[in-house]
Amino acid sequence: MSIENTRATDVHYRPAAQSDLLSIADLFLTTSEAPWSREFARASHEHVLDTGTLLVAERRGEIVSVAGSIVRGRLWYLSTFWTHPEHQRSGIGMPLLRQAWNSGVSAGAEVFFTWSSSDPAAMASYMKLGMRPGYQILHFTGEPAGPSSDTGMHRGYESTDLDLSHAAKIDHDIRGCTRESDHAYFLGKPDTRGRQVRFDGEPAGYYYVTAEGNVGPLAWTGPRHADAVLALAFRDATSGGAGVSFAVPGSNRKALDFAFDSGLRFTRFNHFLTTSEFGALDRYLPSGPVLF
Ligand SMILES: CC(C)(COP(=O)(O)OP(=O)(O)OC[C@H]1O[C@@H](n2cnc3c(N)ncnc32)[C@H](O)[C@@H]1OP(=O)(O)O)[C@@H](O)C(=O)NCCC(=O)NCCS
Repeated sequence: MSIENTRATDVHYRPAAQSDLLSIADLFLTTSEAPWSREFARASHEHVLDTGTLLVAERRGEIVSVAGSIVRGRLWYLSTFWTHPEHQRSGIGMPLLRQAWNSGVSAGAEVFFTWSSSDPAAMASYMKLGMRPGYQILHFTGEPAGPSSDTGMHRGYESTDLDLSHAAKIDHDIRGCTRESDHAYFLGKPDTRGRQVRFDGEPAGYYYVTAEGNVGPLAWTGPRHADAVLALAFRDATSGGAGVSFAVPGSNRKALDFAFDSGLRFTRFNHFLTTSEFGALDRYLPSGPVLF
C-alpha cells in the first residue's frame, strides 16, 4: 500500500543531509522540549540518517519539519516527527510523514509502529495512516528499594558484556527481527554499557544502562527471568550513585509490577501505536523514542 501526497505548499521537501543534523537537533529540542543535549539529539538523528530515512521540509531556507524512520526486518518504526511550533498545523508535516511511510512500503515493511506524544495532531497523523493505539508507554524514575532490587535473590544468573550474537537471538524472539546496526550504535556510546544475562549457561536476557541511570533496551527470554534481569540492570544503573529511569510498554505487566514494588515514581506517559501487533513486547523495555 502506498500513500500519495495530497497537499501542495510553498514548502520544499527533500532528504536530509549530514550538514542538516545540527539544525534538525535544534528543531527537535525546540519542539519536543526533551531534556537531551544537542549532541545526543544530533547523534540520534545521524543514526537514523545512516540506517534509515530522514526527510526535511524547508520554508524560506529554514528547516521547519523533520520526519525519520527505520526499517528492521518487516518492522517500520517512525523515529522522529516534528514541525516547528510556528509552522504546526499548516499542512507541512503530513506530506513528510507520508514520504517516510512510503519509504517503508518500498522497503517491504509490513508492520508500521511508533511512540507518540499526546499531541492530537501527532496521534491524528498516525491514526490517519492506519496505526491504532495499543497502550501507553509509562515512564518511571527514582531510587529502587525493597526485595525486587536485591540481586542476591537471583542465584545462578551471570551477567557479562553483551555480544551481538546473544542480542540477535533474543531480538529475533522478542521483535521477530534482528538489528545489529542499533546494537553497534548503543555499544559505541561512551556512557553506555550493554550486558547479557545467562542462567545455568542459557540466555536469559540482555540490558543496557547509561552512566545517568537510564535502562533500556532490555529484554528477557521467559517470564521466570524477568525479575533477575531487571534486578541486575537496576544494580548496574545505580552503581554510579544515580537513580534509575526507564520506559515500560503498557503490555509489560512484569516490569510494571517491578517498578511499583521497587518504590519508583510514575512520571509521565506516551502512546504506542501500530498497524498490527507483533513480537513479545511484554518482555521488553525500549531504548527510547528514536529506536524503540
Ligand atoms: C505532530 C506534528 C509533527 C505534525 O506536523 P504538522 O506540520 O503540524 O502537521 P499537519 O498540519 O500536516 O497535520 C497533520 C495531519 O493531521 C491532521 N490533524 C491535525 N490535528 C488533527 C485533529 N485534531 N484531528 C484530526 N486530524 C488532525 C491534519 O489535518 C493533517 O492531515 P491531512 O494532511 O490529511 O489533512 C506537529 O504538529 C508537531 O510537531 N507537534 C508537536 C510535537 C509532537 O508532539 N510531535 C510528535 C512527536 S511523536
